[in-house]
Amino acid sequence: MKPVRKAVFPVAGLGTRFLPATKAMPKEMLPIVDKPLIQYAVDEAIAAGITELVFITGRNKRAIEDHFDRVPELELELESKGKEELLNVLRDMLPSHVNCIYTRQSKPLGLGHAVLCAAPIVGNEPFAVILADDLLDSDKSVTRQLVEAAHQHNGSILAIQDVDRSQTDRYGIISGSSVDKRTTSVTGIIEKPEPTKAPSTLAVVGRYVLEPEIFECLRNTKPGVGGEIQLTDGIAALLQKKSVFGYQYEGTRYDCGSKEGFFRATLDLGRKYHGLS
Ligand code: G1P
Repeated sequence: MKPVRKAVFPVAGLGTRFLPATKAMPKEMLPIVDKPLIQYAVDEAIAAGITELVFITGRNKRAIEDHFDRVPELELELESKGKEELLNVLRDMLPSHVNCIYTRQSKPLGLGHAVLCAAPIVGNEPFAVILADDLLDSDKSVTRQLVEAAHQHNGSILAIQDVDRSQTDRYGIISGSSVDKRTTSVTGIIEKPEPTKAPSTLAVVGRYVLEPEIFECLRNTKPGVGGEIQLTDGIAALLQKKSVFGYQYEGTRYDCGSKEGFFRATLDLGRKYHGLS
């Protein structure tokens, strides 16, 4: 498999669960302590060796572009006041070999459609998909874990987590057979099944390494759950022709698309990285 150089960040969603905070601000800019969710996701990608960051944006998302841009007057101000530490925080945000590319999803047609919008930028190489709502705290970048697993097994990789059966209707759920302690060879995947209909309790969380054949699958994917073009349905078509694996990553997941998860992340990361109590 070719190296994974590009990561796609679908960030066009409206974030209605966090209104009114997200009325004029993208949900991906909500901070856990002092860093926006999208930057945790970007840091994880960079730690995996990704050099091209592809953001699929929508209306009201300009703040994300501004966030990853340099602000010379702010840097000058910090420099003149001798605030070296803060200056380094800003300068180290994006290493010089990393590029940001922005493209718009003009209509909210679903996650699968958002990923398809990246096709002209990604081209014919494997790539990562990172959903910033899922904050994954780990010693080793979870995206790096997936990239390594993709090369080891020579196929697409989905991050998975065993969830309570009562929660299967919140996730893509896989079925398959175990390959090793962390890896499952995927034979089926279904979006948000009711607990009684779920083929397992192995849920897909917001990290994927996908082979470029996914784009052709997504082009042929009809609207599914919620009337949206689902990435899950594209992956169901992909596994008819290419190998797809689920990988139980090492790390702690916070579902920052929910208030509960967001609150937990704030408490845990505040304690762990900022000495707050
Ligand atoms: C999306 C995917 C779903 C996946 C989940 C992970 O759902 O459609 O398959 O399990 O992300 O967070 P969403 O959370 O956008 O409803």
